[in-house]
Amino acid sequence: MKTIVIAIDGYSGTGKSSTAREVARQLGYVYVDSGAMYRAVTLYMGENGIDIRDEEEVKRALEKIELTFALNPSTGRSHIHLNGKDVEKEIRTPNVSQLVSQIAAIPEVRRKMVAQQQAYGSQGGIVMDGRDIATVVFPRAELKIFMIADVAERARRREKELNEAGILADYKSILANLNERDRLDTSREDSPLQMASDAIELDTTSITFDQQVHQIVGMARKRIGC
Ligand code: DC
Repeated sequence: MKTIVIAIDGYSGTGKSSTAREVARQLGYVYVDSGAMYRAVTLYMGENGIDIRDEEEVKRALEKIELTFALNPSTGRSHIHLNGKDVEKEIRTPNVSQLVSQIAAIPEVRRKMVAQQQAYGSQGGIVMDGRDIATVVFPRAELKIFMIADVAERARRREKELNEAGILADYKSILANLNERDRLDTSREDSPLQMASDAIELDTTSITFDQQVHQIVGMARKRIGC
């Protein structure tokens, strides 16, 4: 059976990752959370006191970073590993969320992440979510989705998600962080967040998780021809 590449981009907190993961599960595809990769690089830079304004220091640090994904038996999900260590929880903290858009704007960082992401997708059968997946990583993806949602609703969802994961966070600072990340992600020079001309916009403000998954899986099946 034909396998395709599904690119899901959109604003922070629109539910891209959970949607993409479930779409991949239903299709039997591999899921790659590209945001987790930028977050893991951010964690490394923070923990090692890297001066992110110093291009050479950033380049040296990047050489020491190895990112891999591995299935975690207790969650049944693919977790990101930074130099062999599972950092899936550490990368979701407010500290990392605060710094990640700055790190993701550094061209050297993007080059390394994009190369690794393209290698993952070389065989098809993949769902990847992020900001530049349809525009830069897989410009020839067979299905491109651009997810949007009202920012207040996105903040409510993120607060619930963090609370459920046992990470303390309040609505106001989450809202401020989402607005700031939207601003940085859309205005950066290198690969800004923008909708690809051939992407399909999906507004998730008032539809349920199951509905959004169902819509994307339906579109994918049409393209796969099953
Ligand atoms: O999807 P996320 O919120 O976990 O992503 C974290 C940050 O990483 C986000 O603020 C922007 C950046 N990012 C990016 O620049 N390009 C991607 N493909 C994915 C994420």
